[in-house]
Amino acid sequence: MKRVAILISGGGSNMLRLVEDMTGDHPARPVLVASNDPSAAGLARAERLGIPTASVDHRDFPRDRAGFEAALLKPLLDAQPDIICLAGFMRILTPEFVTRFAGRMLNIHPSLLPSYPGLNTHARAIAAGDREAGVTVHEVTPELDAGPILGQARVPILPDDTPEVLASRVLVHEHLLYPAVLRRFAAGDRSPVML
Ligand code: GAR
Repeated sequence: MKRVAILISGGGSNMLRLVEDMTGDHPARPVLVASNDPSAAGLARAERLGIPTASVDHRDFPRDRAGFEAALLKPLLDAQPDIICLAGFMRILTPEFVTRFAGRMLNIHPSLLPSYPGLNTHARAIAAGDREAGVTVHEVTPELDAGPILGQARVPILPDDTPEVLASRVLVHEHLLYPAVLRRFAAGDRSPVML
C-alpha cells in the first residue's frame, strides 16, 4: 500500500476527493495532510476524517524559504510518504525540496498546461479569447508547472464566463481528474489520464 501525503493551502476540496477515493482496492492510503496556513479549512476537514495533520506557517519564515521548507520537511519525513500530492498548495517549492521527491510528487493546476502556468489562469484564458480551459495533473519538477503531464480534462469557456464561474466549472473536473490520476500513478502506471 502506497502512503500519500497531501499539501494544501485552503479549503482542500481536491484533498477531500483524493481521501474519499483512497479506500477499498485503491493502492494508496492518506497518511498526512499538511498546510502552510494553520487556518486552512482543509486541515479541520482532514482532522474530522481522522487523518494526521501538520501546519507550518510560512509567515513565520519571512524571506527564508529554506527555513520554511526545513520545518515542513520534518512532519513530511516522519509520515514516510511514497507519494506527495500538492492540492491547492500555493507556495513555490525550491529545486532542492522538489528534487528530494523527484518522480513522486504530483500537482494539480487549473489550466491546460503548457498554457497558463502560474496564477490567475482563468482570467488569462478568458482575456485571451480561448474557447476552452481545463485542468492538468503533472509531476512536479523544479520548473514551475512544467513537469510531465499525468492527466488533463478539458472544459468549455462560455461567452459570459467570469473567472469565478469558469473556476467553479473547472473545479468539478479537478475533482474527477485528480483521483483518477492518483489511482493510476499509485499503481505504478504513469500513462496520462485524459478525461
Ligand atoms: C484548485 O482549483 C487548484 O487547481 C488550484 O487551487 C485550487 C484549490 O482548491 N491550484 C493552483 O492554483 C496551484 N497553482 P481546493 O483547496 O478546494 O482543492
